[in-house]
Amino acid sequence: AWVRHTFVIEETPYTRLCSTKKILTVNGQFPGPTLHVHRGDTLIVDVYNKAKHNITIHWHGVRQPRNPWSDGPAYITQCPIQPGGMFSYEIIFSKEEGTLWWHAHTDWNRITVHGAIAIYPKHGTAYPFPKPVAEQVLILGEWWKRDVMQVLRQALRTGGQPNISDAFTINGQPGDLFPCSKPGTFKLPVEQGKTYLLRIVNAAMNDNLFFAIAQHKLTVVGRDASYNKPLTRDYILISPGQTIDALLEANQPQNQYYIAARAYSSGQGVNFDNTTTTAFLQYSGSGNYAATSPPYSLPFLPFYNDTNAAVGFTNALRSLANEEHPIDVPLTVDTRIIATISANTFRCPYNSCQGTNGTRLAARMNNISFVNPPIDILQAYYYGINGDFGSRFPDKPPFVFNYTAQFLPQSLQTPRRGTEVKFLDYNSAVELVFQGTNLVAGEDHPMHLHGYSFYMVGWGFGNFDKKKDPLRYNLVDPPELNTILVPKNGWSAIRFRADNPGVWFMHCHLERRLTWGMNAVFIVKDGEQEEARLLPPPPGLPPC
Ligand code: C2O
Repeated sequence: AWVRHTFVIEETPYTRLCSTKKILTVNGQFPGPTLHVHRGDTLIVDVYNKAKHNITIHWHGVRQPRNPWSDGPAYITQCPIQPGGMFSYEIIFSKEEGTLWWHAHTDWNRITVHGAIAIYPKHGTAYPFPKPVAEQVLILGEWWKRDVMQVLRQALRTGGQPNISDAFTINGQPGDLFPCSKPGTFKLPVEQGKTYLLRIVNAAMNDNLFFAIAQHKLTVVGRDASYNKPLTRDYILISPGQTIDALLEANQPQNQYYIAARAYSSGQGVNFDNTTTTAFLQYSGSGNYAATSPPYSLPFLPFYNDTNAAVGFTNALRSLANEEHPIDVPLTVDTRIIATISANTFRCPYNSCQGTNGTRLAARMNNISFVNPPIDILQAYYYGINGDFGSRFPDKPPFVFNYTAQFLPQSLQTPRRGTEVKFLDYNSAVELVFQGTNLVAGEDHPMHLHGYSFYMVGWGFGNFDKKKDPLRYNLVDPPELNTILVPKNGWSAIRFRADNPGVWFMHCHLERRLTWGMNAVFIVKDGEQEEARLLPPPPGLPPC
């Protein structure tokens, strides 16, 4: 079926934390509207930009078969929609099922321009679990009292880390622990004895989040619109960009219970928002929230730097891998790419930047700090425009060192800035190993790939060993994802078949890393057959 929506981007005043500011919204809503589709549907979204900022929309986790033209990242697959302009995105849901989300993919606009996508099973098919009575989207986000574009500009000007947010939010609300926020606290109504499907999205800019509901367990049934073997836990971890489908059984006495989330931040010295956002699970018949000092307590959430709690959850998840939901992980690989990921402030060569003490923040992959080109890479590739990007993204780190050693010399810390892509042959089996490094401070990075979902076949702490580690890969039921958290001072290996021709962005979903260059681009070449070729550009592409 075809579904059509209109998104009007505009500035709308919103009040949070006792003050009002104008934020970018879609149709005046924050968070933005939830889109409901079935697997196999095609969705058209007409986006009108009535704001003062350039904007694009990305459909995070949708493969967009042969059609990167509708993928959205600015200067990668399109030029942004300028104020007064419009663009129609065509989004085809081929294999995805569960929850994904959409968000702006220009500057930091995704802070308020985002919403969920609920993808139901194809007509005539069912969930791989008993049908829940109802469902609820829970979007975890962040709120700055200041204008977020100012926060970004200030960080770019000073060369330092951006200021942290003032609160995390659940469905746009900081919750009752914050000033002026009690009345707006989000409430999730449930009836005793029933089971609900929670569609949880981490739309925060810069933080992984632990999430839990007091006295209730969550059964995770899907991540990134791919089903997994049910996993029941007291708390979950969700990284920026990720989506989790979880079943909630309302099996406790009729009452109100806290829903809460707070940051997981492993990097020493990396500033983060150490507050807790709350919402309420409200049983029907339990009365309304009125108490000034709640008798109920917050759920247990691990300490902010509890790496074991984080990896313990993430790595217990396995894909469903059954007959209806088979996996298709490449058993052998044609191309292996090892990419170091790191971020730090470094001393600028030749005083080329104005940061404090002549330093500047940079993030990079294989020591290249990505720079947006003047024309989007997709158009430059399609029309053969020279000089827009280079094709020398390296297959391995430029030099080998003990990436996760405690002290690393300054000489390793000066990246090259550039726009380098990596070409992949159509249908080749690709393995990509993200190697975390301990340059200045290691931290966990949520790495996201556009145009694909991939299998996470292995991970570990320390340095990846290309002889030994692949022997321990899970090729039976590895989770299928579009965003993975690479552990601090460790590595993660993913595999996918390059069967989607086009230009595809890959980046860290911490906005403070994306902006500073922890990005790369794959160009998957066309195959021989007609069905293996990039589609021609749609009419009405915005000009640069
Ligand atoms: Cu969630 Cu490049 O995006």
